[in-house]
Amino acid sequence: MLIGWKHFVGLLLAGVLGAFLLAWSGLIGVSASTGHWKATDWFLHWVMRSSVRTAALGAKAPVFTEGMLPMAAGHFEAGCAICHGSPALARPESVGRMLPAPPDLKDKIATWTDAELFQIVQHGIRFTGMPAWPVADREDEAWAMVAFLRRYRDLDAKGYRALAGYAATQSTATDEVLETCNGCHMPARLDVESLVPGLAGQSARYLEQALEAYGSGTRPSGTMAVAIQGLSGVERRKLARHFANLSAAILPSTVQSPLARRGETLAVKGDPERRIPACLSCHDKADANPAYPHLSGQAEAYLANQLRLFVGKTRGGGPFRALMTQAAANLEDEDIAALAAYFAARNASRDPAPR
Ligand code: HEC
Ligand code: HEC
Ligand code: HEC
Repeated sequence: MLIGWKHFVGLLLAGVLGAFLLAWSGLIGVSASTGHWKATDWFLHWVMRSSVRTAALGAKAPVFTEGMLPMAAGHFEAGCAICHGSPALARPESVGRMLPAPPDLKDKIATWTDAELFQIVQHGIRFTGMPAWPVADREDEAWAMVAFLRRYRDLDAKGYRALAGYAATQSTATDEVLETCNGCHMPARLDVESLVPGLAGQSARYLEQALEAYGSGTRPSGTMAVAIQGLSGVERRKLARHFANLSAAILPSTVQSPLARRGETLAVKGDPERRIPACLSCHDKADANPAYPHLSGQAEAYLANQLRLFVGKTRGGGPFRALMTQAAANLEDEDIAALAAYFAARNASRDPAPR
């Protein structure tokens, strides 16, 4: 007998019907209490590894810097340790009953490449409870987490606490939320490579609008979205006022390098031919709009990162964000490096407007 296409279709339909019947019968267990069979477990992990490997093709890691670590460590403590545990705290017992259970990452990280870890951290793993990064447009944040994961194996409890910022916060602060903020934002923890901004010296208006923007998503940041989740509007305003009342940390003014001097020219005069406005016409002058942030003395890496985000049109911000997106539109990488070097080195006190 000749096997025609009708037989195939019949077989396919029978198969689909059979699968439905099996599912309907209730014989496929979904209870998490008994775990998977060894074969199922192997198969599922094989599928996951293959999928992650393929999705990660072509992703290129940026240069990892020390400045990525504190921010990512602080986020790990707030957003990952509840499931995976940390060098400072074993995984909670209740989470161990998830199926699959979130593994201790110490043994796992070495089995993945940087690009694969990025894929997992940015996009999560379906059907496992491993969540995607809280916002879609911040690949730089997910890469910072990969940089931290690479360091994870070598961290003991003490090293982890120091990076994640709780050592710095054991001191006198009484307000618990404020302590978590300071874990990342304490001036003592900020240096040139820092991707965390200093908050002292900004106006209450700017800080409040920034927190609102993180909450509503008009300024996408997974790190800050998690840090402020659950805070009411009243609490956010209180925190904004607290940080605005601290006087600006005056960082030691570094020697003006040729790079910073180039940045100064741009900041003071702009470049009309390339349609780059003078930054100082909006920023850091005595009568500046309080919704415009203060830049002088801010960490160099943070400034450069924010400018790259503005150029890529993913920074977002408060009600005046469109002004800044436009101001940054024509900046090249060298401009960004020069401007960040200039404003970071500039004394943090508020200079009068340029003449
Ligand atoms: C709600 C719980 C939960 C949270 C929160 C969570 N994970 Fe996971 N994670 C999981 C589960 C479940 C898996 C999958 C384990 C498996 O398939 O065996 C996983 C897998 C992973 C893996 C792959 C490990 C392996 O199996 O080889 C990495 C890496 C990872 N998570 C990192 C993170 C990071 C970084 C964060 C924080 C940004 C995070 N996870 C937050 C539950 C969680
Ligand atoms: C895990 C580290 C971490 C914690 C905890 C944290 N922050 Fe942040 N914060 C950051 C990072 C990183 C940024 C920059 C995010 C971006 O790229 O927009 C930031 C940005 C901000 C900004 C915007 C500043 C500017 O110049 O635009 C404000 C305001 C702020 N944080 C306030 C807070 C407050 C208040 C808390 C406590 C409730 C807090 N942060 C907790 C890491 C943290
Ligand atoms: C027309 C006014 C205007 C001009 C000109 C301008 N900016 Fe801005 N800038 C803003 C506003 C408004 C914001 C706040 C956006 C928001 O709501 O987060 C901002 C934000 C920033 C930030 C983010 C600071 C932080 O704490 O996150 C940086 C960095 C910055 N500007 C740098 C520059 C540089 C460099 C130039 C010159 C090339 C420049 N700006 C020109 C209005 C301006």
